Amino acid sequence: MSKEIYLATVKQHNKAQDLWIVIDNKVYDVTQFRLEHPGGEDTLVDAAGRDATKDFNDVGHSSEAREMLKKYYIGDLAAADIQKKSPISCRHIALALGAAFIGITLVYVIRRGVARN
Ligand code: HEM
Repeated sequence: MSKEIYLATVKQHNKAQDLWIVIDNKVYDVTQFRLEHPGGEDTLVDAAGRDATKDFNDVGHSSEAREMLKKYYIGDLAAADIQKKSPISCRHIALALGAAFIGITLVYVIRRGVARN
């Protein structure tokens, strides 16, 4: 079984000379790799000790880059630290509120129209 690593532990490895990052709930030690990173050492140091999944994906790394990850894999993020995606997102709530607002406005406008006639 692979090793489980807590986010609190990852956070302690937040320096250039001791650099861990999390991508897709897997933990990588990129201390050595930072000097070879085509995207620069600074980008990795900025992401040190935290979840860099979004940063990694936003760059649109190649499949070669994804393949390289395996070399630096040291364990999985502990289950307790894996954020479960809520089935109801902020977007869903905003859409529901927007729809309700439009609905109520329509009913109000139609009623006023009926009342005038
Ligand atoms: C272990 C993790 C990572 C590996 C193995 C990796 C590997 C690579 C590789 C191979 C490239 C060359 C282009 C490509 O093949 O996609 C690249 C480019 C780049 N990487 Fe990463 N990367 C990692 C993490 C990150 C993170 C966390 C960031 C944060 C922002 C980042 C930012 C960039 C940027 C900005 C470039 C573009 C460089 C350019 O096009 O001039 N990388 N990376």
